[in-house]
Amino acid sequence: MPNKNPYRPIKTEVLDVLTETPIIKTLKLKPAEQITFKTGQFIELTIPGAGEAPFTPSSRPSVTDMMEVTVMKVGKVTEKIHRVKKGETVGLRGPFGNGYPVDDFKDKEVLVVGGGCGFAPVRSLMYELFDRIGDFKKLLFRGGCKSPTEFLYKNETAEWVKRKDLDAVLTVDTDDGDKTWEGRVGLVTSILDGINFDFNTGIAIVCGPPVMMKFTTAKLLDLGFRDPNIYLSIEKNMSCGIGKCGHCRMGEYYVCKDGPVFTYDSIKNYPDIWE
Ligand SMILES: Cc1cc2nc3c(=O)[nH]c(=O)nc-3n(C[C@H](O)[C@H](O)[C@H](O)COP(=O)(O)OP(=O)(O)OC[C@H]3O[C@@H](n4cnc5c(N)ncnc54)[C@H](O)[C@@H]3O)c2cc1C
Ligand code: FES
Repeated sequence: MPNKNPYRPIKTEVLDVLTETPIIKTLKLKPAEQITFKTGQFIELTIPGAGEAPFTPSSRPSVTDMMEVTVMKVGKVTEKIHRVKKGETVGLRGPFGNGYPVDDFKDKEVLVVGGGCGFAPVRSLMYELFDRIGDFKKLLFRGGCKSPTEFLYKNETAEWVKRKDLDAVLTVDTDDGDKTWEGRVGLVTSILDGINFDFNTGIAIVCGPPVMMKFTTAKLLDLGFRDPNIYLSIEKNMSCGIGKCGHCRMGEYYVCKDGPVFTYDSIKNYPDIWE
């Protein structure tokens, strides 16, 4: 349920903090008021005295008594978030944005491609797709991270590979000599070769760092995916989150309000989509 005053952060208890990789942590949060979100929407997390930043919940949308956000340490606010301890209080605004139009994927073949910290929104999306697996003709997942040490949700995604109702392949750019790594080695685009898929009507959802989304989209187009069937999650610098301040403007769109999920078709003519 959306917060009535979108500028007011809701007091939120930090139930737990999990270290995922050397630079990524997941916070389990319990807002004082129930917040439900659609997969792919985002929230603004406020750290008292440090500011706020947008994050896409990484947890199952149908779980409404707590929410998880997975945060990569890149700068001032995320550095402070990484210092937050279990039991402390933070603020949370949202949810904002459109989220993934999962109903539109019904009766279609669906391919999800995740890279690096893009696994956070992708995890929430995969939970939603697993919950509705009978709705789709076929579900494929292709995920890539830099190395086994930096592989987000390593144990969980290893379980996905074993599922009979999902065709999942994982890869790392380099295995750093880690003999326990059971996935592939190579860029995420390399594990898109040879997929058995209905490229004409199938849906592809891509989430990851801009450079990964750029090359993955080019690869999907080469394979025969159609522009309106490729969904991208766009990250722009944000402030208000509700289409008022103009910080996130991209052409005719406000990414916070009209996105962050866009079809490639709707944004491909803008020069700055991969920045
Ligand atoms: C809709 C949306 C969802 C996001 N979801 C997640 C998520 O689930 N997990 C996660 O770790 N990160 C996510 N991000 C990115 C996250 O918001 C930024 O990493 C964070 O705002 C950086 O804040 P900072 O003060 O630590 O870094 P800063 O000190 O402000 O900057 C450090 C670096 O991060 C870049 N940056 C700063 N703000 C943003 C921003 N709003 N978006 C993109 N890059 C930014 C800067 O260009 C700079 O390179 C999301 C961003 C958006 C817009
Ligand atoms: S963040 Fe203010 S208009 Fe989008």
